[in-house]
Amino acid sequence: MAIISDDDEFENVREEKSLNVKPEVIEFDKSFENNIRPKTFQNYIGQSGLKETMQISIEAAKRRELPLDHLLFYGPPGLGKTTLAGVIANEMDVEIKITSAPALERPRDIIGILMSLKGGEILFIDEIHRLNKVAEEILYPAMEDFFLDMTTGKSQSVKTLRIPVPKFTLIGATTKAGALSGPLRDRFGIIHRLEFYSTEELTQVVKRTASILNIKITDNGAIAIAKRSRGTPRIANRLVKRVSDYALVRHDGEITEKIAQLSLNCLKIDDFGLDNTDRCLLKLIIEKFDGGPVGVETLSAALGEDVRTIEDVCEPYLLQAGFLQRTPRGRKVSPEALRYLGYKVNNSQQSLFEEG
Ligand code: ADE
Repeated sequence: MAIISDDDEFENVREEKSLNVKPEVIEFDKSFENNIRPKTFQNYIGQSGLKETMQISIEAAKRRELPLDHLLFYGPPGLGKTTLAGVIANEMDVEIKITSAPALERPRDIIGILMSLKGGEILFIDEIHRLNKVAEEILYPAMEDFFLDMTTGKSQSVKTLRIPVPKFTLIGATTKAGALSGPLRDRFGIIHRLEFYSTEELTQVVKRTASILNIKITDNGAIAIAKRSRGTPRIANRLVKRVSDYALVRHDGEITEKIAQLSLNCLKIDDFGLDNTDRCLLKLIIEKFDGGPVGVETLSAALGEDVRTIEDVCEPYLLQAGFLQRTPRGRKVSPEALRYLGYKVNNSQQSLFEEG
C-alpha cells in the first residue's frame, strides 16, 4: 500500500536528514548497564539453540555479502533480546540503531529512522507489537523491497514516489508475539523465542557480572542468587548489585551463600524468586476469588498494579513455574501454588483449598 505523506511531512524528513537531526533513536550507548552486556556469542550465556542457528545465519549472510534476514525475537522481558541484537550487530560488524515502537508515533519518526540508516545496518525496534498501523504500512515495502512508498502533492497533482532505503536488517522484539499483525509477522525471515535460563546458566551470568564489577563472590553465593532470579538474567544482574551492597555494608564485601540469603530475605525475595507482588497476586486469587478463575482486569483493580505489569512481568514466570494457569475464563492458581504458600489443598473439585 502507498504511504500517506503530505508535502510537509516529506519536507520535514528531508530537512531532518540534511540537518542531521537525529530522530528518536536511543543510541546503543556506553552506559554502565551496557558494560555488563556481552558483546560476542562467546560471552553470551544461554539460549544455545538460538545462538547456534544465529551463528549459521550470520556466517551465511557474510559469505553472501548480504544483510541478515529480518529477525523477530519474542519472549518474556529481561531474557536478553536487546543484548542479543547488540551481539548480532557486533558479530556482523555493523552499527545498530535502537528504538521502541511507542517512540515511532508519527510517520516522520519511522521514515526519519529508515532514511538515516546506512547499508547493512541493523534497526532494532523494541515492543514491536505496539507499532501503529501507519508505521507498519511504512515498514512493509521497506522490509520487503527496501523502498518507501510516498505520495506528494495535493488532490489533482498527487504523485507517488518510491524512495530507496539502504538494505538493512530489522530486528523486532516483543513480549507478545500473538499481538503482532499477521502481515508484519510474515515479513520476518527468522523468528525465535527466548527461553527462561536454567539455574546453571544464571550462575554463570552472576559470576561473569560479579567479575566485571570486581565483586568477590563464592560459587555457592552465585548459585543462591541464580536460584532466586526467576530464570531471568536482567533480574540476576540487578540482584548481584543489591546483594553486593548488602555484603559491603553488613559483611566484608564478599558475597557468600549466607550473605546472599540474608540479603535476598531482606529484599523479600523468597527461595523461588517470588517477590511481594507475585505473592500478593497469588494470595489475592486464593483468598478473594476462591483460587480462580478470575479476569486479569479484576486482579489489576484489586491489586492496584496495571494489567501490563501483571501480564508481562508477573505472569510469565508464575505460568512457567506452574503456579498459575490461564484459562478462557481467567487466571487460576495451581495446587502447587497453594502448597508453596502454605495453604491446605482440598481434593474436592469444588474448591482448591480447605476452609478454616
Ligand atoms: N547479561 C545479561 N544477559 C546475559 C547473557 N545471556 N550472557 C551473559 N551475560 C549476560
